[in-house]
Amino acid sequence: MQDQIDTTKNDTLGASAAADFDVLTLEAKLLLKIETATDLGRLDAIRVDALGRKGDITGLMKRLRGLDPDRRREMGRELNSAKDSVRDAIEAKRAELARAEMDRRLEAERVDISLPPRPEAQGSVHPVSQVTEEVVAIFREMGFAVAEGPDIEDDWLNFGALNIPDEHPARQEHDTFYLPASGEGGRPVLRTHTSPVQIRHMLSSEPPIRIVAPGRTYRGDSDMTHTPMFHQVEGLAIDKSTHLGHLKGCLRDFVEAFFQVEKAPMRFRPSYFPFTAPSMEVDIGCSFEGGELKIGAGDDWLEILGSGMVHPNVLRNGGIDPDVWQGFAFGLGIDRLAMLKYGIPDLRGFFEADLRWLRHYGFRAFDAPTLHGGLAR
Ligand code: PHE
Repeated sequence: MQDQIDTTKNDTLGASAAADFDVLTLEAKLLLKIETATDLGRLDAIRVDALGRKGDITGLMKRLRGLDPDRRREMGRELNSAKDSVRDAIEAKRAELARAEMDRRLEAERVDISLPPRPEAQGSVHPVSQVTEEVVAIFREMGFAVAEGPDIEDDWLNFGALNIPDEHPARQEHDTFYLPASGEGGRPVLRTHTSPVQIRHMLSSEPPIRIVAPGRTYRGDSDMTHTPMFHQVEGLAIDKSTHLGHLKGCLRDFVEAFFQVEKAPMRFRPSYFPFTAPSMEVDIGCSFEGGELKIGAGDDWLEILGSGMVHPNVLRNGGIDPDVWQGFAFGLGIDRLAMLKYGIPDLRGFFEADLRWLRHYGFRAFDAPTLHGGLAR
């Protein structure tokens, strides 16, 4: 205690000074003030008035020097004890006021999280969100990470870097929505597929690579199975010895997990994409009996995705040496998968924001799909 009284010092001032040393009265007054303090600011002012450098108790301490030794010792003891009890009272009061202040704030800023949802809020998880989660859950289990890219894409990343030159018919086939040129760089487009995320990811990280990239895609097309905005999941795996067998195995595992069938009849059809070689489209065996679609049985085929081995030019454009690395890629239509799995006949209902539709086809918010917990309702 820094300002404890040193009773060994022997100053000489008249004993008369002791007359107004009424320590007990001072202490009682201070304790009363402390007890009735109503806020922390006032409490601090009391502390300064009592114990501060020019405070009452400190003042008395200074005057001890003028007392004779016996009186000084006695007064010193009294003062020290008064000082301790005043300090303790202030501390106790401070804690009490702080607690009261906290209670007041808790009361004032209270949010009742137990309130039930408003009865009119009857939304649910959209099948597109649900299926995206399901697809991601399956590929995550296989060791794929999730990557993303922007909806507004550079013309080079959407086409050129993917080995689709300017005059290539794919540019027309994609019914691209172009945006006004912004000066520098390529012409901005609403991405026509999620494949530009392949390039973005190659440019921003080192192989080996295993990613899936879900997101919105856009093409000027509209009928029962096409909407101008739709959803894809891109897949990309690059390693030193990745081959077509890996692609087929990976897609087969995916289809069986997604549709929850033991063995899905699948057909890998040779196809063409500028960014893969060789390229394959994948169909799944199904039947349409009595207007009902059944996956994994019957003699009909439904196309669900495009895929292939990444073209060396694409690897090069992504800054990856095609003499060292090779990989596969695929693009799945999410809306298409949702229609198939959950028996939704018309794609246009997906984006009409009709609550009745969502109530019928939607999913409960807390049923997050996982492989162990189940992927279906
Ligand atoms: N990007 C293609 C499409 O949208 C799908 C695809 C992705 C094909 C990756 C091959 C490899 O049609």
